[in-house]
Amino acid sequence: MYLITGASGGIGKELFKKLSTKNDVIAISNSKKIDNNNKGICVNINLLNHKEIDQLISKYERNLEKITVLNLAVKSFDGLLANYPIEKVRETFELNFFSNLYLVQALLPIMINQKWGRIIHFSSVVGNEGAKGAGIYAASKSALIGYSKTLSKEYGRFGITSNIVELGYFEKGLIENFNQEKIKNIISSTSSRRLGLSDDIIHAIEFIKKSDFYNGEILKLNGGR
Ligand SMILES: NC(=O)c1ccc[n+]([C@@H]2O[C@H](COP(=O)([O-])OP(=O)(O)OC[C@H]3O[C@@H](n4cnc5c(N)ncnc54)[C@H](OP(=O)(O)O)[C@@H]3O)[C@@H](O)[C@H]2O)c1
Repeated sequence: MYLITGASGGIGKELFKKLSTKNDVIAISNSKKIDNNNKGICVNINLLNHKEIDQLISKYERNLEKITVLNLAVKSFDGLLANYPIEKVRETFELNFFSNLYLVQALLPIMINQKWGRIIHFSSVVGNEGAKGAGIYAASKSALIGYSKTLSKEYGRFGITSNIVELGYFEKGLIENFNQEKIKNIISSTSSRRLGLSDDIIHAIEFIKKSDFYNGEILKLNGGR
């Protein structure tokens, strides 16, 4: 089964729609309602409130069989580092790092018990390279690296893997705030001359799911840079 956070986002919505045709899925959103035409379970929770994570896990514990968790939920505020408000830094890390960690901590005992689990974090080229105006988003994403690699080292022996899918630029989601000029430049600097699609991500997820030998890695999915 899949547990998807950020399932109402540009990317999460498409992954939910496709994955829930053939799999059991619990889709988590916060402020938006998710269209649910398939057999998925859709829940609205605020991942910043850890009690709501505990309640979700205990309510759906029976559905949590062979879990692949897709950590997509994200906060991102634009701003140059020199005057980036510190409370916005905290808010960004609170969701992009702490809530991710809290959810994984809640799922690990179940995964260990079942001797199987796939933890997939979503990062960005920006997390690796930095980008003007996106420094705190970048920092919150690069924090996932040491954390994910350590998860792989601590829990690999229980059949649990933790990997990062590092995305380039995709057609949906955060990119919808970019202007056309910027999108044109991104496409022309991408070897494949296009933006990424949800199917590209699904292929990566299926690859990661198949083997416990791919562990503690960063899978770059960016069309060539
Ligand atoms: N799109 C791209 O080109 C791109 C590129 C590189 C990396 N990525 C990564 O891919 C992932 C998905 O990105 P996206 O573009 O789909 O993002 P998005 O469209 O901005 O979606 C963000 C999601 O996070 C959820 N969320 C925000 N605050 C939350 C909270 N407090 N509790 C629970 N959920 C909360 C939102 O829920 P509600 O809307 O319901 O509030 C929404 O579902 C992110 O991790 C991002 O860093 C995306």
